[in-house]
Amino acid sequence: MNAPWKPSMPGNRDPFNAFLCDDAALDVLRPVVIEMGWQPEKCNKGGLRNAVQSLSISASPNILMVDLSESGDPLSDINALAEVCEPGTVVIAVGQVNDVRLYRDLIASGIHDYLLKPLSPGQIRDSLVNAQAIFSAPKSHDPQAAKRHISTAVIGTRGGVGASTLATSLAWLFSADNKMPTALLDLDVHFGTGALSLDLEPGRGLTDAIENPSRIDGLFIERAMIRANDHLAILSAEAPMNTPLMTDGAAFVQLEEEFRQAFEMTVIDLPRNMLINFPHLLNDVNVVLLVVEMTLASARDAIRILSWLKANAGHIQPIIVANKVQAGVSEISKADFEASIERKIAFTIPYDIKAAANAAKLGQTFADANRSAKAGSVIRDLSKAVMGVGDGETVDEVVKAKSSLLGKLDLKALMPKKDKAKQPVPAKA
Ligand SMILES: Nc1ncnc2c1ncn2[C@@H]1O[C@H](COP(=O)(O)OP(=O)(O)OP(=O)(O)O)[C@@H](O)[C@H]1O
Ligand SMILES: [Mg+2]
Repeated sequence: MNAPWKPSMPGNRDPFNAFLCDDAALDVLRPVVIEMGWQPEKCNKGGLRNAVQSLSISASPNILMVDLSESGDPLSDINALAEVCEPGTVVIAVGQVNDVRLYRDLIASGIHDYLLKPLSPGQIRDSLVNAQAIFSAPKSHDPQAAKRHISTAVIGTRGGVGASTLATSLAWLFSADNKMPTALLDLDVHFGTGALSLDLEPGRGLTDAIENPSRIDGLFIERAMIRANDHLAILSAEAPMNTPLMTDGAAFVQLEEEFRQAFEMTVIDLPRNMLINFPHLLNDVNVVLLVVEMTLASARDAIRILSWLKANAGHIQPIIVANKVQAGVSEISKADFEASIERKIAFTIPYDIKAAANAAKLGQTFADANRSAKAGSVIRDLSKAVMGVGDGETVDEVVKAKSSLLGKLDLKALMPKKDKAKQPVPAKA
C-alpha cells in the first residue's frame, strides 16, 4: 500500500499493529502476538476506520491486521486505508463474511490474507509467519536480488508429497512473475514430470548431458534446454526404463555450474534417492525446500533427511513446507509433527484436489493455474521467501524475518495477476 507523500521510515515502524472490533478476537490474538515477540498493547480495539484514523497521523507498521466486521463497504474502506498506508505494509484483513467474491476482491486490492471469524490461534500464527516472510523478502525489482544466483533443491520426504508440483510452480513464479532467468533441472530422470506439467516434450537434453558430461558448456545449455516461457528453461528427460542411470554425477555438478553462470535462479527437482547416490549435488545449493505431508512416515523421513543435511550439507538450512494438508484428518497433528522434527513448518499448503485437476487440465503449473486459491497464494509466499535468501543470510532468518528490514514490499507488487481461467474456490473463504 502506498501513500506517496509520507516518506517511509523503517526505523520508526512498529513490527505489528492490529485493530479488531471485539474482545473475543483480541483475546485470541494477543497470546499469539506475544509468542511472535511483539507488544500486545499494539492490539487495539476498533475496526478499519480506526486503523485509517490512526495511520493518517502515525507511521505504518510492517504488518497490519484490520477488522472489516463493522465496515459497510469493505472494498472502498480498504482503498481509504491504502491512501494512508506506507509502502511495504503487509495487511491482513479479518471479517465475518464468508464470501469467495469478497475474498478475491480483497486479495486483488492488495490485501495479503483474509481471516474468517471466529479466529483461532493456529490460523493467526500461520498468517503472521507468512506475512513476516513476505515483509522481509526483497522487492522483486531489487537490483541486488537480480545479481545473485539462488539454487533451490526441492526434496519430498515421501513419494507423491508434491515436490515436483512445488518445483515447477516456483520455477514458473520466479520466471514469469519476477522475470528472473530461471533453470529448472528435473533430476527424476526416468519418471520426471517437470516438462509434462507444462505440456512440453522433455527432449533429450538431460540424457545427452549424462552421457557426455564433457560437452556441457554454455552453448550446450542453450541448445539442450526447452523453453517454457521467456525466462524459464527446462532440462529434463524421460529416460527409457531399460536404461539404468549410468553416471557418477559429474554431469549434474557441471550443469549446476553452468546454470550459475547463465541464470539467476536454479530450481532442482531432486528425488530423495539422488541424495544417497550423489550427495555432492547439494554442495552449491543455497536452499532446500523439504516437502512433507502430515504422516508418521513423512515425519520419520523428515528427521532422517534433516539430520543427513546437517551432516553432509551444513551450509543449507532447509525450509519445511507441508503440502496436501487437510484440517482435522491428518495422521499426525502439525504441533506433533513440528515437535518430532524439532523445527517449525514454515509454509502450509492445503490439499486442493480441484486446483490439482485445474493445473493438469490447463497444462500449467499448480501455482500459475490457481492464483486465487489459497494453495496458490501460499506457494507465491514461498517463492518470495526463497527470493529473499541473500548472500550470507540464513534461510531461517528470511523465513522468520528476524533480519533487518531488507526490502519493503509494495503491496501492489504482491497483487495476483488476473485469473487466466475459471478458478476453483479457495478452501478458506
Ligand atoms: N496441494 C495439493 N492438493 C492436491 N493435490 C496435490 C497438491 N499438491 C500436489 N498434488 C498432486 O499430487 C500428485 C503428486 O504430486 P507430485 O508429482 O508433485 O509429487 P512428487 O512428490 O513429486 O511425487 P514423486 O515422488 O512421484 O516424485 C500430483 O497429481 C499433484 O497434482
Ligand atoms: Mg516428483
